[in-house]
Amino acid sequence: MMKLRTVVIPVAGLGTRFLPATKTMPKEMLPVVDKPLIQYAVEEAWAAGMERIVFITGRGKKILEDHFDHSPELEETLTARGKLDLLAEAKSTIPAAAGNLLFTRQNRPLGLGHAVWCGRNVVGDEPFAVILPDDLIDVADGEPVLRQMARQFEQRQSSIVAVMPVDSDQTNKYGIVAPLDKELDTRSEANRCFQVTGLVEKPLAAAAPSNLAVIGRYILTPEIFNYLERRHQGVGGEIQLTDAIAGLLEQQSVFAFRFRGIRYDCGDKVGFQMANTALSLQCPQLRERLLPFLRDLVASQG
Ligand code: G1P
Repeated sequence: MMKLRTVVIPVAGLGTRFLPATKTMPKEMLPVVDKPLIQYAVEEAWAAGMERIVFITGRGKKILEDHFDHSPELEETLTARGKLDLLAEAKSTIPAAAGNLLFTRQNRPLGLGHAVWCGRNVVGDEPFAVILPDDLIDVADGEPVLRQMARQFEQRQSSIVAVMPVDSDQTNKYGIVAPLDKELDTRSEANRCFQVTGLVEKPLAAAAPSNLAVIGRYILTPEIFNYLERRHQGVGGEIQLTDAIAGLLEQQSVFAFRFRGIRYDCGDKVGFQMANTALSLQCPQLRERLLPFLRDLVASQG
């Protein structure tokens, strides 16, 4: 039985789509309501019982490390002012056990597959998860997506990618999976987790094997590193994680898991605003003032 305890979170990207906001600030620090994107990813990892979090970082990402550490000055001030609720918020980012956050650098932007490969020495010879923090998945009061997947992994002991259906004109933005059983009703509750025979990175609609897109949650066995090691250049000249997972099919079953939750693409300005709006409306204090404002705004747009 392979135990899952490590998550790799790639955070080396430049975030050019959010310039100038991301000129000096990592895009992973952009807040959705009151938490930076990276915190959603880390909390999801903790909720899935992960012990070790491996950040694949790059230049200019140092404040991510500080975000998950004590801030003595802030904590002293909040304590002195008796602001205990805010003090708890400030401390909520600190891992329960010191030494469980690990940082390694990617050095060069050679693709997602390369970023994950950069974690090989820290991960070692055991299965691990990957979370892409741009993909924020809201489960409301439900089970966080990585935990949903970890339960599947316990049973299947094989690599699993998260998927969701997309419109056919969107397949060229994602990795797309080919289900083993082409007739399978993947919308049915009984078929949430199914075997795949192939994965293709960013195919045009005509070449897409389905409309099921890979979303940024993966559970991978360590054999993936052998395929990433080959440094095969895929779409865009980048080393693609999708291609390495397709390679893994030579030696193991790979599953797709249609998760429960609503995914927001926070690497995109519109998706980011949608996440902020939807999650703000879930906070009763914000909802009270925001909802009438949004109604008036929409009405005034005609
Ligand atoms: C990456 C992966 C792609 C996946 C997507 C999910 O693409 O390469 O297979 O579908 O994340 O968000 P990117 O968004 O980095 O272009």
